[in-house]
Amino acid sequence: MNIVSTIQELRKEIRSFKQGNLTIGFVPTMGYLHEGHLKLLEEARKENDIVVLSIFVNPLQFGPNEDFDSYPRNAERDQKLAEQAGVDLIFTPPVTEMYPDEPAYTVIVKKRIDVLCGRSRKGHFDGVATVLTKLFNMVQPDKAYFGMKDAQQVAVIDGLISEFNFPIHLVAVPTIREEDGLAKSSRNVNLNDRERIEATALYKSLCEAKELILKGERSKQKVIELVTSIISTNTSGKIDYVEILNYPKLEEIEVLHGNIIIAVAVKFTNARLIDNITIEV
Ligand code: PAJ
Repeated sequence: MNIVSTIQELRKEIRSFKQGNLTIGFVPTMGYLHEGHLKLLEEARKENDIVVLSIFVNPLQFGPNEDFDSYPRNAERDQKLAEQAGVDLIFTPPVTEMYPDEPAYTVIVKKRIDVLCGRSRKGHFDGVATVLTKLFNMVQPDKAYFGMKDAQQVAVIDGLISEFNFPIHLVAVPTIREEDGLAKSSRNVNLNDRERIEATALYKSLCEAKELILKGERSKQKVIELVTSIISTNTSGKIDYVEILNYPKLEEIEVLHGNIIIAVAVKFTNARLIDNITIEV
């Protein structure tokens, strides 16, 4: 496994992969790897000759009051896990390499952002789309892997790839969970002991919602009420949103029909958690 931190070194590696006609699978991350990231790497390993992992905590996608500074980082541990996962190349640039100056050009996302996390995280998806545009141009992958844990991100990137004509196949990977159902997240370490137990209510509420829909409930409001009441009864967190939309367009619906997403965000003391499920109704 090779580790590079400059764009020049990265391009040299990529050129040699391309000359050898090797296919490239790309897994972009912000590091502090857990089983969710490892699942993306495992899928990439199965489907490509070369696996490239990027580790970059992207300041552009964090708001002024968000956790950029306290975002967990552990380069040594990440490198070990990446090696075990069969990664060929890690790209881990410093901020000054990705943004030597204040960016004069950014990607502005106009659709799929006035809902879910986009509503409270203004500019977040512009930051994600901008860094991925740069990374896609540098890595030139055949396939790029993203987790459904961040379903809105998958929907936004799906649009980015198609509107900007990137010759990249997006692979969406199901959410990996702890044994008690909590979606794996780098931010889970910021929960205190009590909140860690309470946090299982997020996935429980989504499973109960799914069951209610499978039993025939078609009122969006009824399902939202159930999810809200399970989370507010069982956690001390503050609900940011409970929303049901169609997927991947993320448009408002009244009656539950077609491919839908039920998504929640809950703010605990030092961590804001998100979770979702998609269902074909
Ligand atoms: P990060 O939060 O590090 O996540 C990297 C990838 O891992 C994302 O595609 C995310 O959806 C996926 N992932 C996280 N937890 C998961 C889980 N429990 N199960 C399955 N996949 C999971 O998302 C980002 O970084 C950044 O926004 C990035 C795309 C790298 C752009 O900066």
